[in-house]
Amino acid sequence: MSEIKFHYGERIPLEMHKVRIVQRLNLVPIDRRLQAITEAGNNTFLLKNRDVFLDMLTDSGVNAMSDQQLASMMVADDSYAGSETFSKLETKVQEIFGMKYFLPAHQGRACENILGQVFVKPGSVVPMNYHFTTTKSHIVINGGSVEEIVVDEGLNVTSDFPFKGNTDINKLKALIKKHGAEKIAFLRLEAGTNLIGGQPFSLANMAEVSKVCRKNGILLVLDASLLADNLYFIKTREEKCKNMTIREITRKMSDLSDIIYFSARKLGCVRGGGIVTHSEELFLKMRELLPLYEGFATYGGMSVREMEALTVGLEETMDFYMVNQGPIFIEYMVDELVKKGVPVVTPAGGLGCHLDAMAFLKHVPQTQYPAGALASALYLVSGVRGMERGTMSEQRDANGIEPLSNMELLRLAMPRRVFTLSQVKYAVDRIGWLYENRELVGGLNFVEEPKILRFFFGRLAPVGNWQKKLVAKFKADFGESL
Ligand code: F0G
Repeated sequence: MSEIKFHYGERIPLEMHKVRIVQRLNLVPIDRRLQAITEAGNNTFLLKNRDVFLDMLTDSGVNAMSDQQLASMMVADDSYAGSETFSKLETKVQEIFGMKYFLPAHQGRACENILGQVFVKPGSVVPMNYHFTTTKSHIVINGGSVEEIVVDEGLNVTSDFPFKGNTDINKLKALIKKHGAEKIAFLRLEAGTNLIGGQPFSLANMAEVSKVCRKNGILLVLDASLLADNLYFIKTREEKCKNMTIREITRKMSDLSDIIYFSARKLGCVRGGGIVTHSEELFLKMRELLPLYEGFATYGGMSVREMEALTVGLEETMDFYMVNQGPIFIEYMVDELVKKGVPVVTPAGGLGCHLDAMAFLKHVPQTQYPAGALASALYLVSGVRGMERGTMSEQRDANGIEPLSNMELLRLAMPRRVFTLSQVKYAVDRIGWLYENRELVGGLNFVEEPKILRFFFGRLAPVGNWQKKLVAKFKADFGESL
């Protein structure tokens, strides 16, 4: 299977499915949106869905399911222990990843909790191409620290480098030399690096990382939550993999790993997660914690109906025309924004379209959270809900010092198979308008700042009354319209 070509040269993100179930959307007036974002403390996590038009907060747990997935949920074997539903899922996981042992969990961070508790000790170091918020918290809470070894290109916002999620092998070797392999709890590779714009790594780079890990006796843990996107990019951007099937690439990746874990809220389009390994010893160590945090080993916090749908969802992920749906829509959105001069992360990655808030709002200092301010402003002028991925998503260190993030991004996630092209065009239209009026947008300050993962529940207030001015300009341009 390969990409579909078009006569007029324009790349059309073509849906390889038809829509049979629809959900009504609300687009509330701008005055209500101002009230809603104020009530939410300018934190898009705290908005109510009834006030949101296009929910681009995340792709987590909100991907469209297929008819086959929904049908499978009707025939589930509900039992606490030994359910047939679990056996089916276990067999599918074994088949796809070629690993014998599977531990189910209720979501991705639950897997991270188990990995953190089992492998991370005070003073441990965990190198990774790039961290994810929940992963880092689980490592730090167990006394470890994270070291990022992504290639320098990964932190260049605009680039044409196809694999910005690659690991810098020299940085990895230097890190092993500095700390000694014994101090390294495990090395974590994140497929489709979330916080730097959903950027993939190549299979060739993964093979090099694995070689160094094996030589030094370091466990290689693959976070496969965003595997679907990474598989698409390996197949379409890596010359040597062009003729491989998605299934073959997946198998190659698992052969290079010791442990794979995933959020099934992303991979498999359901709500759940799991850890897979080929090692009985590692499996037994991790299984000890399962009943304490997740539940018995044949459900791990997932409902049997979700497990049935996951079995189908994992199989469907092996289809090129399924894994391409997110990336081709994202590429369309990125290209359209680039045409309008809007600063975005390039090349287009997986997960979503990422606006470069540092370039978009040059006049807003990083200490006033430009990505958070942009999230608030975009919601206000469009009803589109994105997610701050910048300094707000970082955590203060033990001395209360706030690390400034490498990038200030506003992520507009593209849940798989959910939005139509017209909806994407609407978002592009409003983002373009906001860019033309960017001087009106100001910063934000925390008024309530939680200690851990502050971006979830933190509340902020605008610096000055920029929101009122933005609303006035919107009304001047669009009338009292929505
Ligand atoms: N790893 C990656 C790469 C993720 O993107 C996520 C979640 C997790 C682990 C944790 O999984 O949510 O099931 O506990 N990312 C979500 C997001 C929250 O919106 O990007 P989880």
